[in-house]
Amino acid sequence: MKFELTEEQKAVRDAARDFAQNVVKPTAIERDNSQTFAAEEIKQLGELGFMGMMTSPDYGGSGMDTVSYVLAMEEISKIDASVSVCMSVNNSLVCWGLEKFGTEEQKQKYLVPLAKGEKIGAFCLSEPEAGSDATSQRTTAIDKGDHYLLNGTKNWITNGGSASTYLVIAQTDVEKGHKGINAFIVERDMEGFVVGAKEDKMGIRSSDTHTLMFQDVKVPKENRIGEDGFGFKFAMKTLEGGRIGIAAQALGIASGAFELATAYSKERKAFGKEIHKHQAIAFKLADMATEIEAARLLCIKSAWMKDNKMNFGMSSAMAKLYASRVAMEVTTEAVQVHGGYGYVKEYHVERLMRDAKITQIYEGTSEIQKIVISRGVLAE
Ligand code: CAA
Repeated sequence: MKFELTEEQKAVRDAARDFAQNVVKPTAIERDNSQTFAAEEIKQLGELGFMGMMTSPDYGGSGMDTVSYVLAMEEISKIDASVSVCMSVNNSLVCWGLEKFGTEEQKQKYLVPLAKGEKIGAFCLSEPEAGSDATSQRTTAIDKGDHYLLNGTKNWITNGGSASTYLVIAQTDVEKGHKGINAFIVERDMEGFVVGAKEDKMGIRSSDTHTLMFQDVKVPKENRIGEDGFGFKFAMKTLEGGRIGIAAQALGIASGAFELATAYSKERKAFGKEIHKHQAIAFKLADMATEIEAARLLCIKSAWMKDNKMNFGMSSAMAKLYASRVAMEVTTEAVQVHGGYGYVKEYHVERLMRDAKITQIYEGTSEIQKIVISRGVLAE
């Protein structure tokens, strides 16, 4: 077993770090305040190949492994999780789902511009009454011969206002339960598709989260993904990989807060010495570093399992469950290390603490991860 990154993986990590520090950081606080989507930064991420990192170069992607994706997600998330969630959804949920399960025509038409970063994708599963209980879809898609007629509402959709391509999960036959669910590719300019209100959120405030409405949207038959009735399994398979991305995001939020706390502890003096020379602070930093390292190992292991074509559903749930808990604990402690300065905006750390919470909610709450893990453990 080797615990060493390849030269290519290190280069990806360093490129992501440079980009995050030099391009994303200067505007992060202002974008958080004004809830402004990082359109220009995302465009540049696309040009650097970070929006379709794992997609094959045959379809406009960078053809990198999932470990590189975790490294890049950690670096971007250290600075701004609003940027990294856009990147994560585009990479893991939209590009991966289309490459794995789409037809050749769907890949050429939709995947190529998404993987090149020329367009942005969104993944639309959650509904007002179907968050964790994803089989209870109320959005319907009625088979009308050459097209489906789509009606319903989706909630809390990341990239909702900035995307061009939406993967929408809907019920086609309520009698069949989860086997009557399908996934569709919906274009932003299809008639009857309305982008609704933007959410005013606690954290990841510059990410673009919207309600979406579908009113008699005609979706061509060729835009269905996979066989009839494959939609629920499509969502579950896609989310397995998505959870690696969000685990890496949580890891990045934690390590970003840790770096800030460490640097601050070397500058700030109290009772005659730098505060890291007080055990009260040094022990906090030791606990934070240990938890972050454990979260990193879970993320990398899950990514490695995916790259090696192993079943990684339980491991990605473990990575997300643990890393998101670490993100909450470490950011809270990092604010504590900063004292009063941690509670004001200019030090970044309060933003990281607010951003950490969403990692315990989206792409399956912590309770959902425990369902997946406990089922896996009990089946072994
Ligand atoms: N891969 C393949 N198939 C799977 C699967 C997987 N990982 N998980 C379940 N299935 C299959 C099952 O085998 C079963 O099929 P059969 O009947 O043919 O055997 C079928 O799907 C139904 O499975 P369950 O009975 O296990 O379904 P359930 O109702 O008990 O739900 C759940 C399981 C894990 C709780 C699931 O509903 C779930 O993951 N919910 C959370 C949804 C979620 O993560 N939402 C996040 C929204 S996306 C988002 O947040 C993106 C963003 O914007 C950032």
